[in-house]
Amino acid sequence: MKLLVCGGAGFIGSAFVRVRLGAGDEIVVLDKLTYAGRRENLQDLEIDFVHGAIEDPDAVARAVEGCDAVVNFAAETHVDRSIAEPDAFVKTHSQGTYVLLEAVRERGIRYVQVSTDEVYGSIEEGSFTESSPLAPSSPYSATKAGADLLVAGYVHTYGLEACICRGSNNYGPRQYPEKLIPLMILNALHGDPLPVYGDGMNVRNWIYVDDFARGIGTVLEHGVPGEAYNVGGPDEAPNIEVVKRIIELAGADESLIEYITDRPGHDRRYSLASDKVKALGWEAAERFADGIGRTVEWYRDNAWWWEPIRSGDYRAYYERHYGRSLG
Ligand code: NAD
Ligand code: DAU
Repeated sequence: MKLLVCGGAGFIGSAFVRVRLGAGDEIVVLDKLTYAGRRENLQDLEIDFVHGAIEDPDAVARAVEGCDAVVNFAAETHVDRSIAEPDAFVKTHSQGTYVLLEAVRERGIRYVQVSTDEVYGSIEEGSFTESSPLAPSSPYSATKAGADLLVAGYVHTYGLEACICRGSNNYGPRQYPEKLIPLMILNALHGDPLPVYGDGMNVRNWIYVDDFARGIGTVLEHGVPGEAYNVGGPDEAPNIEVVKRIIELAGADESLIEYITDRPGHDRRYSLASDKVKALGWEAAERFADGIGRTVEWYRDNAWWWEPIRSGDYRAYYERHYGRSLG
């Protein structure tokens, strides 16, 4: 199969590209290369690369030529940035998804929208199923939910062959260090303070990135058009437990933990029931206890990957957001 992978230079998109090349697919990546998108994530891989935005119909037309299906990862993905500056979130998730849907409608090809558990909002107990109502709480999740609804509208109106795949919190190699796990790993390795929001008791459901990538492949191959599929991880944990485990693995000290002002509108807990994708044959392979160790090791061994980030514009972002500089 020849696949167009939008946002394939990011964290999960590049893992998906690796999984699909391994399965024998031909890959074209379309990516705008925002601060989070990096050519390095695709280095040594045999792919065609188109530098452009999903909201640009010409770039999309060039990239989609000859493809059998489109998988859309392209997004602004950091909740804190969506609270500070929502513009790009609205543009990429709304206009960008619309342009992609038009392109696949014109060509009659299959489409998978990569989405998130955050579209359901927070849940104190139990788990969301695919028929739970959408109740997003941040500009990030609200615009992702809007994109999901647009996909559903295109399926209903035009009979588009499209599925939606909603993942829980991913972790693993090549995740930009604005997100909890890579940020805590790099700060712990450098002896910088570890900024924990609120009481540290918000709960996330962790999935190793390769497991999510395989889940999206399962939905691409076996998903029923018009259906959404939850792809949740096997383990959940309060943030403070994750941070303490990282400290242990990095050989740092718990005195680095610093409780700071909470994120506005901070969702307390996410949880997905993934029975529907399991019925298609998918199962998570990596437990958090093992995956987190491999992830810390990867960051320890791959300074070439994060050094240019940590010494560049990221420092200014960090100062703006946390009100202190990195050591
Ligand atoms: P990321 O921020 O690492 O990568 C996003 C990629 O999209 C980057 O390569 C970026 O350059 C590209 N991009 C952004 N705007 C674009 C545009 N307008 N046109 C073309 N390319 C653009 O993100 P990620 O964590 O890999 O997330 C990928 C997808 O998975 C997103 O849709 C996200 O909502 C979803 N998701 C993420 C998680 C998670 O825990 N990270 C969990 C569930 C779902
Ligand atoms: O649930 C899936 C979502 O997971 C994806 O759709 C998003 O793209 C992805 O960013 C992620 O969102 P979260 O907000 O859950 O991830 P983040 O890594 O930003 O934060 C995880 C938890 O850690 C959350 O409760 C906030 C907390 N946190 C985060 C940062 C960056 C801290 O306590 N301190 C921090 O410095």
